[in-house]
Formats: sequence, structure tokens, C-alpha cells
Amino acid sequence: MARTAAGSEDTDAEAIDAIALLKADHRAVEELFDAFDKARRSDRKAKLVEQICTELKIHTMIEEEIFYPAVEPKIDDAIVLESYVEHDGAKVLINDLLASTPKDRFYDAKVKVLSEEIRHHVQEEEKWLRGMFAQARRTDLDMTELGAKLAARKAELKRKAEKDGLPAAKPTAVKPKA
Ligand SMILES: [Fe+2]
Ligand SMILES: [Fe+2]
Repeated sequence: MARTAAGSEDTDAEAIDAIALLKADHRAVEELFDAFDKARRSDRKAKLVEQICTELKIHTMIEEEIFYPAVEPKIDDAIVLESYVEHDGAKVLINDLLASTPKDRFYDAKVKVLSEEIRHHVQEEEKWLRGMFAQARRTDLDMTELGAKLAARKAELKRKAEKDGLPAAKPTAVKPKA
């Protein structure tokens, strides 16, 4: 029974629509931010931040490696370029949070600002009609094929995260000066 269920899950994962996959990631990270808001204990906060940062690292990587390059030539490219810059803003806080602890005076503030940045960015991607996903949906891109690529890369990065951890998030557009 368990084997059948796992088997059919694998099949579903391969057939997933790219936009549905990315939206599901958005919902998952929103839930983690909500859980952080309710968390009081330091160990729980640190655990949630680790989960949030891992989810966001994987999500920004699969978007930047696969989804954004596929849609950029076919939609209003300004929205895609802004998205890279928004990701970079989040990456600064992600790397900083992973290197700090809930004892840091600014810890909760950093999580709050990261959640606000992500909420804004998710809106830009999901906005009705003019959002990135809405524009992408109107192209001739095969969202099932793209979804399979996203799912495969996501699974690979998840395995890496569990086994050795992921490297620090790397900015793409912003070149910070020391
Ligand atoms: Fe996204
Ligand atoms: Fe994004």
C-alpha cells in the first residue's frame, strides 16, 4: 500500500505543471513564516529559519537556473530582471540569518523583513494578468516539460541539502562591494 502510494506520488511529481510547482513552494514557505511568527523558543526559531532558508535557496536556484531563462525571452523581461534583483536582496538576509542565532538582537527583525520581501516578490510572480506567471502562461512554453525539469532539479538539491547542506546563496545580479 505504502509502496503504491509512493509510486503514484513519483509519477505525479513528474507530471506537475511548472507554475503549480512554484506556487506550491510559495505556499510552503509562507506557512513556515507563519510558524515562525508563533514560535517562542530559540531552538524552534532556529530550526524554522533553517527550513525557510533551505526552501528559499532551492526555490531561487530552480527559478534562476530553469524557469526565468525559459520565460525571459518570451515575456516582459523587466519583470524577470527585477526578480533576479529581488532574489539577491533575499539572499543577503538568508546567508546572514544562517550565520547567526536567535540571540542576535536583529534576528527576529531580519526574519520579518525577509518575509516581507518574499511576500512582495511572490506577488510580483503571481499577480493576476500582468504577473510573471500569468504572462508565462500565455506563451507557447510547455509547462509540463518545464515542471519536470524543475521537479528533478529540486529533488537533486533537496538530497544535497540533506546530505551535505547547501552552499551559501550566491547573488546573481547584485555585486556587493565590501
Ligand atoms: Fe517564486
Ligand atoms: Fe522568484
